[in-house]
Amino acid sequence: MVVIFLDFVKLHEFEKPNDETALSLMNSSSAAVLEEFPDIIFAYGYSDEYSFVFKKTSRFYQRRASKILSLVASFFAAVYVAKWKEFFPQKKLEYAPSFTSKVVSCASVEVLQAYLAWRQLDCHANNQYDTCFWMLVKSGKSISEAQEVLKDTQKQQKNELLFQNFGINYKTLPELFRQGSCLFKKKVDETVKHDENGNPVKRLRRKAVFVHSENISGINFWNEQPSLYNDLGHFTKDIGKIEPDFIRLFQFENKLLPLTWAVVRIDGCHFHRFSDVHEFEKPNDEQALKLMNSCAVAVLKEFENIHFAYGVSDEYSFVLKKESELYKRQSSKIISAVTSFFTSTYVLQWGEFFPHKELKYPPSFDGRAVCYPTYNILLDYLAWRQVDCHINNQYNTCFWMLVKSGKTKTQSQDYLKGTQTREKNELLSRQFGIEYNSLPQIFRMGSSVFRLKEAVAVENGVVSGKKLEGEVALDHCNIIERCFWEEHPHILNY
Ligand code: GTP
Ligand code: MG
Repeated sequence: MVVIFLDFVKLHEFEKPNDETALSLMNSSSAAVLEEFPDIIFAYGYSDEYSFVFKKTSRFYQRRASKILSLVASFFAAVYVAKWKEFFPQKKLEYAPSFTSKVVSCASVEVLQAYLAWRQLDCHANNQYDTCFWMLVKSGKSISEAQEVLKDTQKQQKNELLFQNFGINYKTLPELFRQGSCLFKKKVDETVKHDENGNPVKRLRRKAVFVHSENISGINFWNEQPSLYNDLGHFTKDIGKIEPDFIRLFQFENKLLPLTWAVVRIDGCHFHRFSDVHEFEKPNDEQALKLMNSCAVAVLKEFENIHFAYGVSDEYSFVLKKESELYKRQSSKIISAVTSFFTSTYVLQWGEFFPHKELKYPPSFDGRAVCYPTYNILLDYLAWRQVDCHINNQYNTCFWMLVKSGKTKTQSQDYLKGTQTREKNELLSRQFGIEYNSLPQIFRMGSSVFRLKEAVAVENGVVSGKKLEGEVALDHCNIIERCFWEEHPHILNY
């Protein structure tokens, strides 16, 4: 199961305690997630979180946790941004949202049941508290006064407070706020077309439907839905007392080894198809690369612990400083936040880079994190990525020149089989008059993003000791050779 949480820097003046439109946008994004990932059987969400339950037998990405949690967060973020306008036509999306996510492995169907009961209880408790809190604040109390009034109050007391002070019967508030939303696929008859006599032709389709239920972990609700108990199992009895500590046992977190350089590498998911559908130029689409670079610059501005990034094609590697304590080094959170922030920026900025191209479907990226214990090994890693850029770019340049000159793809592949760098350069020069080394650096070298040396503020001619935030630079330099690192020792603080 993957749980995701919205990690918005600033909310867009959402209504308090609940913004129905914002919740609907969360729900609509979740429905898209269910359509995209067939192994997700059930989803439950409220406020800024959503839990997605994969079927027990899922073999999705060989059950690799980092792939799955990053992909779901990334896709969710992409859809959230893409749909924003539909839900908030009058409000501009000012900041790229990011989502942190984690995998909770449920050892048995009982644990799943307990987990769902716990989340719905949380929904209920939070909503009741927030409803009281915001009513008190709106009625003129300060934040601390409102907190004081609610301190240690029980459920019943909160209901009374709402009724007596504000004439609100809690039970009559919208189900969407009190119970959260659940989502699963149901078999529905759908009209696919009409026959020649105008009669509807129906087909049985599995479609994601929303349901509000007072008790999603109750046997009454669960055991009535074949699509739930078939793939996830029956609930045998209703849950008595909810024990969050028991469920927390299943939420263990992997941490990145302390004092090592952690690299988060993201990679476009099925970008072969994405670049075809969006008619990217071959082998390199300069605008697409510039969009990737712009997203990487945004990542460095957002996450101050990331000191360096290197990107090529549909991938980007982000290097966190050794001492980073971002999300207490919890790898799931780091991977999902970086990947989803990158993705939402990609969707947000698409129009700037492709003003005449519609984004046909939301892209997604997967992420992973690897720790490198020494400076030299880290530089070896980065050099490996740049070598890869070089090899791929040289091959692709030759390949697409051959194809454009009339050869089939198979002929071009055969032609290039076993050729060395020198032979490829000769081919380009002899047959096509292209000097490989004069091709744009962005294609040959990939892109590096880093902060310029931090400036020190000078006030009235005196060094004040205050550090100014270093500006983020983009370059297409050679990072294999050591001179780049020797010239910029501050980047890795070495
Ligand atoms: P997965 O990452 O395994 O999901 O598959 P993928 O299709 O994304 O392939 P991979 O990451 O191995 O390679 C990236 C692919 O993106 C390339 O093979 C290209 O098809 C495509 N791509 C990346 N950059 C460009 C570009 O500038 N122009 C074009 N035309 N295609 C690009
Ligand atoms: Mg890819």
